[in-house]
Amino acid sequence: MSESGFSRRQGVLHAESVPLPTIAAAVGTPAYVYCAGTIRARYERLAHAFEGVPHRIHFAMKANSNLSVLRLLQELGAGVDIVSGGELYRAREAGFTGRDVVFSGVGKTVQEIEQALDDRVLLINVESEAELVTIDAVAARKGVVAPIAIRVNPEVTVETPHAYIRTGEKGQKFGIPRDDISRLVALISDLPHIALRGLGMHLGSQIGNADPLRDALPRLLTAVEIARAEGHDVKYLDVGGGLSVPYEASEREADVEDYAQIVRAAATETELMLLLEPGRYIVAESGTLLTEVLYRKHAAGKDFVVTDAGMSDLIRPALYQAYHAIEAVVDTPRTITADVVGPICESGDFFAKNRELPDVSAGELLAIRTTGAYGYTMTSNYNSRPRVVEVLADGSRFAIITERERYEDLVRLERAHLQWRTT
Ligand code: LLP
Repeated sequence: MSESGFSRRQGVLHAESVPLPTIAAAVGTPAYVYCAGTIRARYERLAHAFEGVPHRIHFAMKANSNLSVLRLLQELGAGVDIVSGGELYRAREAGFTGRDVVFSGVGKTVQEIEQALDDRVLLINVESEAELVTIDAVAARKGVVAPIAIRVNPEVTVETPHAYIRTGEKGQKFGIPRDDISRLVALISDLPHIALRGLGMHLGSQIGNADPLRDALPRLLTAVEIARAEGHDVKYLDVGGGLSVPYEASEREADVEDYAQIVRAAATETELMLLLEPGRYIVAESGTLLTEVLYRKHAAGKDFVVTDAGMSDLIRPALYQAYHAIEAVVDTPRTITADVVGPICESGDFFAKNRELPDVSAGELLAIRTTGAYGYTMTSNYNSRPRVVEVLADGSRFAIITERERYEDLVRLERAHLQWRTT
């Protein structure tokens, strides 16, 4: 079996030992299919690279927040990185306790802060002075002390395939600029309901090499020194996520050993417990979006393959011009050059442009690969399309882990009989 859990047997693409046509016949298309073994292997590989250093892997659940995927990771010993009250709710449903949770995000509401304090999360990662003051006030009202980490913006140059997934650069909305750390640390000393327990950062996503990390870590360590000099009992060093995965054959896999070596050194130097927040690395390659070809079309000298999946099911190509490999589920010898497009009324609704592809006909299945991260979690109901089904394959078994939405679900929260309110 390949690294991703997907492999060809007698010309047919399988998820672990399950032929994808069997899954399509059982649950219909479009469908997200994940390989459990790949998720386990990725988690174990990362954990192994950090063996011997006190650390915890807090899976960034925005990448894939399905309860079964979360449970699988919870059983392996992971914690989670969350960014909303909804993610906290999901994490609890999946069996995580507050101690397993790091709460990130640039705009937490009072209600979310209350929820986090009630659940006694490990850390709330603070991104502004105003947020800090709000957390102090909420904690005071509850008569508790809020454990927080400061998210430092180390202001380094980061190269990612798309600007939207860079966060650790100067001028971004994320984190506290490094020049403001001293002031914030001093302020915390005057806030009785705040305990500064960690310093953290997140540089961006799909970071191709270790240079930004090498540049940023010393800046994070300076922040640790500032906090310690002020007398704060710092315990955690949170280095965020961002490990890349290859989407194209020409791309290299993240060098986990190299990454671990750099990060381990920082943890050892500070004697802090390391927190890692990988999302994509754990789940991206485990997933495929399975879709059926509806039509072939030839227009203005071009070939189009029209699929039953659209940008509402996978928005990454439209939003980031992201590349996803596309394969025929059943081997097809001839190739064509075509655009692969969905049925949605937007010209941004495409999965590939001018791509050399297998010469598939209507009714055949395509696999849009490396979609286990930021695939289903970024779906929408645009064009009133029900969200698709999610399936987990494990060895020779498979199970539905999210039902396909029905039309009734589309209008469930809408009101036909209006209850007008007057002022
Ligand atoms: N920690 C924090 C604070 C984050 O904001 C993120 C991702 C992560 C960890 C996990 O990053 P990862 O290991 O997955 O790279 N929707 C985009 C990716 C946005 C990432 C946002 N933050 C995409 O589809 O490429």
